Amino acid sequence: MKQKIKIWDSCAHLYECHNVTEHPDIVAFKGFEENLLDKILLHLTKEQNRPISLIDIGCGTGRLHLRYGQRIHIPELRNVFGIDISKKMLDLAIEKIKKAGINKIATPALSFKQGSAFDFEAEPINSIQVAVNLNNTIGTMQGQKGAVKLFQTLNRFVENTKGIAIISCYMKKYIETYALPQYESSLYICGQPIWLKPDTYSTNKYKQLSTQYKKSYSNDPFLKVDVYDIQGSLIKKNHVLKRDPVLVKQTIESGVIHTFSNYKSHWYNFQMIDNLIKIFWESKSYHVQTKELDPQNAEQGQLAILDYGNNLQNFFETLSN
Ligand SMILES: C[S@@+](CC[C@H](N)C(=O)[O-])C[C@H]1O[C@@H](n2cnc3c(N)ncnc32)[C@H](O)[C@@H]1O
Repeated sequence: MKQKIKIWDSCAHLYECHNVTEHPDIVAFKGFEENLLDKILLHLTKEQNRPISLIDIGCGTGRLHLRYGQRIHIPELRNVFGIDISKKMLDLAIEKIKKAGINKIATPALSFKQGSAFDFEAEPINSIQVAVNLNNTIGTMQGQKGAVKLFQTLNRFVENTKGIAIISCYMKKYIETYALPQYESSLYICGQPIWLKPDTYSTNKYKQLSTQYKKSYSNDPFLKVDVYDIQGSLIKKNHVLKRDPVLVKQTIESGVIHTFSNYKSHWYNFQMIDNLIKIFWESKSYHVQTKELDPQNAEQGQLAILDYGNNLQNFFETLSN
């Protein structure tokens, strides 16, 4: 676990600057997730008329805290609580909240805890709990054993208040079209993907910044990067990295992104998430391909939703009208 914390601590700043705010495909998918969550929270407000607590598991730099603390008003939302293993991620989240001028007594109340989400127990609470795990965070949570623990943890979090749990993640079948170009564009965050042949500049003495975002469906085998040394001096412009076809094939087959800095992200297939839903969430759950809800922004995703109190009855029908 220490190694995992180190990886997220070391990329926190770049993750915030580049991944959260810039990459077009990631921004589109996050926009889809946020719009859907707004609608679910408003639906609950209208149907239930009781206070709501939102728990963001693997909250990173706190985008939901900022969204509901500053930009979007949900009448019954009383708390936004985030859990993350990385202190650096949480430090950035707190810094953003301060910069935005959100004060401590504002509603919803914003709070964080550092640690593994698997170690937390749900606290007794009157409001209805909505626990979310967004942007393929499940794929970064300690492999398949972590995925199992996440389903159990979410269940624990929402069962007492008959709440809702949502896992929003990517699908393995889109690893070639979405993951490869996406991770090549952001190799300075997670490190150089193993399918790009290593050369002189692939060591930790250098930082490589891609010169453009490779959009989804790009199968260009080359990637142009500017190379910097650790002090930030430009060493080489337009250096070209090339894909290794054998490792590209291996990545597509395994559904796992590996980088030379030991970063790992799983893109799980629909069947595997389906099995976990059946084992841990039984009935009262939905499994949705996000393409069906928003083909333009969310082709690559899937949603696992646990709906303990049947709160979302009719919700998906309302969406398609
Ligand atoms: C891909 S980032 C997503 C961040 C955020 N959910 C978002 O959408 O921007 C994954 C986050 O999960 C966190 N994480 C990984 N394993 C975790 C665990 N066991 N418990 C809590 N957080 C974890 C990492 O520190 C990182 O901030």
